[in-house]
Amino acid sequence: MRASIALLPGDGIGPEVTDAAAAALDAVSARYGHRFTLTRSPFGAAALRAGDPPLPQATLQTCLAADAVLLGAVGDPAFSEGPGERRPEAGLLQLRRELGVYANLRPARVWPGLEHAVPLRPERVRGLDLLIVRELTGGIYFGEPRGRNHDRSEAFDTMRYAAHEVERIATVAFESARKRRKLVTSVDKANVLECSRLWREVVTEVADRYPDVRLEHQLVDSCAMRLVSDPGSFDVLLTGNLFGDILSDEAGAVVGSLGLLPSASIGGRGGLFEPVHGSAPDIAGRDAANPVGAIASAAMLLRHALGASREADAIESAIGAALDDGCRTADLAPPGAPAMGCTAMTKAIVGRIGDLP
Ligand code: NAD
Ligand code: IPM
Ligand code: MN
Repeated sequence: MRASIALLPGDGIGPEVTDAAAAALDAVSARYGHRFTLTRSPFGAAALRAGDPPLPQATLQTCLAADAVLLGAVGDPAFSEGPGERRPEAGLLQLRRELGVYANLRPARVWPGLEHAVPLRPERVRGLDLLIVRELTGGIYFGEPRGRNHDRSEAFDTMRYAAHEVERIATVAFESARKRRKLVTSVDKANVLECSRLWREVVTEVADRYPDVRLEHQLVDSCAMRLVSDPGSFDVLLTGNLFGDILSDEAGAVVGSLGLLPSASIGGRGGLFEPVHGSAPDIAGRDAANPVGAIASAAMLLRHALGASREADAIESAIGAALDDGCRTADLAPPGAPAMGCTAMTKAIVGRIGDLP
């Protein structure tokens, strides 16, 4: 198989973890005889420093022409005070919109052997495997009007959802649940927000088409609580852009580290694949990042954008084997215990891709 993959390393630990993901893709193509062409392009603060917008035209064109996009992370303290459009994060939001990737899949599971690396009691999390289906191109992230009044005494954002946006993301959640444990928990704030009341109505209508899948509605505040008190009771969590952003970082902590979580953004052109974590400026440049989220995002790219599920399975098995063998980056190791760097962890995982039958 031939495929072109746009690689956007971005900022902070982004380049370190995309190198790891690229190494996994190289190992898979060597083993299964594929030809993947990876093209690196500037994005985020790296582009701003060169005097370009955070998503330069040439980078966008490369992404639009590619079979899939693999991204590290964006965000840089040096640009945290700037105006909206000069922020690295604005480039990411624009890219998601341009690609039309409205469905963000964020799986979170406890890898065997990691039960003791989590903050919850092992029996609460053993076998935990949930999927957050987050709406990605609507809601308060994109609603108009937004801005400030001229004397800076007030700022405003708009939460807005069209029924068709809710309908299509709900369909993704029900289709996913059908292949899993057949439970959709739709998360909203319908006791306060009009958007959430529309959300609930539309999700309930979509559920009628899936009599084999159970639907429950849960308010986001109590959902945040249930995610730490009884995370194993979830299968698919369906939610909007903002709530999905927050709950997925919480799910990261529940399974041991935010650095473990991958994501796939699909529904539009190609697909955008990125770890859930950010640029982690506090550990950037120290070879301390956990590469698992990025490497697992490469596996999701293979599965969702290229239809290469055997290759995706090979990467995920290699991650599982490395973790099972006790390989730990600092975020997973007990305090004071020796830990592997990003490079060594990547080698441990990539080496095990070759081991598989
Ligand atoms: P963050 O996700 O970058 O980091 C939160 C905490 O988790 C930090 O302590 C960090 O060290 C740790 N962490 C994150 N990824 C890790 C990994 N792979 N291995 C080990 N530890 C890891 O969130 P933040 O600090 O709130 O944000 C930093 C910047 O990243 C901000 O500019 C933010 O806008 C941006 N951000 C970008 C994305 C993205 O590009 N998709 C996602 C989230 C945040
Ligand atoms: C994420 C990030 C982004 C989001 C930011 C960087 C725009 O937090 O992918 O989770 O809020 O979607
Ligand atoms: Mn986030």
